[in-house]
Amino acid sequence: MTANYPGTRLRRTRATAWSRSLHRETLITPADLIWPLFVTEGSGVEDPIGSLPGVSRWSVDGIVARAKEAVALGIPVVALFPNTQPDRRSDDGAEAHNPDNLMCRAIRAIKDACGDDIGVLTDVALDPYTAHGQDGLLDKSGYVTNDDTVAVLVDQAINQAEAGADIIAPSDMMDGRVRAIRMALEMGEHHNVQIMSYAAKYASAFYGPFRDAVGSGGLLKGDKKSYQMDPANGDEALREVEFDIAEGADSVMVKPGLAYLDIARRVKDAFGVPVFAYQVSGEYAMIEAAAAAGAGDRDALVLETLLAFKRAGCSGVLTYHAPHAARLLNG
Ligand code: PBG
Repeated sequence: MTANYPGTRLRRTRATAWSRSLHRETLITPADLIWPLFVTEGSGVEDPIGSLPGVSRWSVDGIVARAKEAVALGIPVVALFPNTQPDRRSDDGAEAHNPDNLMCRAIRAIKDACGDDIGVLTDVALDPYTAHGQDGLLDKSGYVTNDDTVAVLVDQAINQAEAGADIIAPSDMMDGRVRAIRMALEMGEHHNVQIMSYAAKYASAFYGPFRDAVGSGGLLKGDKKSYQMDPANGDEALREVEFDIAEGADSVMVKPGLAYLDIARRVKDAFGVPVFAYQVSGEYAMIEAAAAAGAGDRDALVLETLLAFKRAGCSGVLTYHAPHAARLLNG
């Protein structure tokens, strides 16, 4: 209960910086950030991504340098995505379970260099490995099959865990994949490998620059609406999360971020589990474009959007702004 004006003047506590600081409800720190990184072949390679200004693909040596940078900045986790060379993409995405693929080499190199000073999160889905750019296997009609795809995703996840991945993040939206991956991890004695499931992942228009970054955009025909969620749905997101938790996910992700903050909040309120949001490539590009156009101050836009995720109940945020935000937050 609050007294009426003028007994209560809500502006009183806002009048000075010290008081605003004392009354602040939400805090963002570098420890809340997960830094997504794109890996490419070669050595000494930095390959800027046109649609993601300020973000590059790095060869494995550069990825190790970024991981060390993350440790120095206080960022606890990096997320890896491979730009698989074209001749290693195939209809069945077999490169995903090659123990010496780009992803596994990057995981091993980071773990060799940084050990447990940093967590390595790896994406499980076939789109960086398929010749058709879909996240799963196609049947004759072009439909992305569920159960056959899950079997391959399990192999992919185990391949990553064997290489040293700390958090397996299935982003494919197949039904039942969390249970299958969890059982396989347990059987392989990877008892402490976490699963952060992309539980509520929407068929979104905000993924364009990412698809450029992993080289799947030009290959993709059609869309991903038969497995990723309809942006119109919220109740369904709660069912997705409920399933993934029951199947053995340690944490869940909502994706994209800003346009889906209501989902993050509902998930947090309904289940009380660790929730993460992915501020995706298109969101990053929009902030960069707005700043470049003089429509807003870049640093302020970055910090305000990240704070919004924390206020919505998220434990952390995957964001391409992670190193920049961490530098700002570290002063
Ligand atoms: C692949 C995957 C995508 C993203 C993360 N993992 C793209 C997609 O589903 O098409 C998007 C991330 C971003 O846009 O930053 N399954």
